[in-house]
Amino acid sequence: MAIKKVGVVGCGIMGGGIAQVCAQSGYEVTISEINDDLLNKGMKVIKGNLAKSVEKGKLSKEEEAAIVGRLKGTTKIEDFGDRDLVIEAAVENMGLKKKIFADLDRVCAPGAIMATNTSCLCVTEIAMATKRPDKVLGMHFFNPVPVMKLLEIVTTIVSSQETFNTAKSFGQSLGKVVVIAKDTPAFIANRIAVPMFIEAMKVYEEGLATKEDIDNAMVYGYNHPMGPLALADLVGLDTLLYVYDSMYQEFKDPKWAPPLLLKRMVTAGHLGRKSGKGFYDYTKK
Ligand code: CAA
Repeated sequence: MAIKKVGVVGCGIMGGGIAQVCAQSGYEVTISEINDDLLNKGMKVIKGNLAKSVEKGKLSKEEEAAIVGRLKGTTKIEDFGDRDLVIEAAVENMGLKKKIFADLDRVCAPGAIMATNTSCLCVTEIAMATKRPDKVLGMHFFNPVPVMKLLEIVTTIVSSQETFNTAKSFGQSLGKVVVIAKDTPAFIANRIAVPMFIEAMKVYEEGLATKEDIDNAMVYGYNHPMGPLALADLVGLDTLLYVYDSMYQEFKDPKWAPPLLLKRMVTAGHLGRKSGKGFYDYTKK
């Protein structure tokens, strides 16, 4: 099956990035949010990214207009009725995701594929909220989506080979490097990276080094583009807490337990760049 029309549920950091990349790759995209304010905010970010590319001479004004023309915002799930593929990028909450998938199942054409961008939740459980679990899989993008080349496609014991083949071709058409992961907690990349984030937070929590030195150690010692604490702020501390909590719940191994400091920061509303404050302060230029 060839994908032509794409839907994206959620116009936050990830959903907006996914919609932008799809529209840039020539797909017609419908993107939804729960209200007009969030939709307008998300669309503004996408348009701002495209305008920056024009300023840098990476896109022409005509290409920018064509990409924007392929993006349509909505607050109604019914508008996904004609989509070939819908990618869900709502917050990491199983109850919410199951409701979204049940609703999509009701409105989407029988052949449509549905994917979740979850970074930690069980894809099989999400698939079973629909009457088409063979057409559901994980498509896990990385932040910032327009820049990061990786796409993890998460297959389940009920997803079909045909669904996987279509998702893989689609991912490659976006210019992504596709890796195949089984439906296990945090898949491949996060399963390997999470212990590093947790240790970085513990080293900071225990007062063993400053946040700058922790980040510099990984930037200059391991050539990472940014240190783990700065990256945690970029991804969002609430998102990381969901990931660690769900890994801890699944494995029941203290190795995956979220650091106390992370819990306290999220409780205090220190969510990283999106709230202006995380390990670093983003309120001052
Ligand atoms: N959206 C779109 N484009 C962006 C962007 C964003 N949010 N942030 C940066 N860019 C683009 C810039 O426009 C720039 O593009 P050009 O090369 O075309 O000019 C390019 O990225 C480089 O940006 P900068 O020069 O501003 O800054 P930089 O060189 O320091 O790179 C970075 C910034 C791309 C974020 C880089 O630091 C990086 O790669 N960091 C690591 C990111 C990472 O590891 N992401 C994975 C997070 S984990 C995850 O997402 C999975 C999960 O489940 C939680």
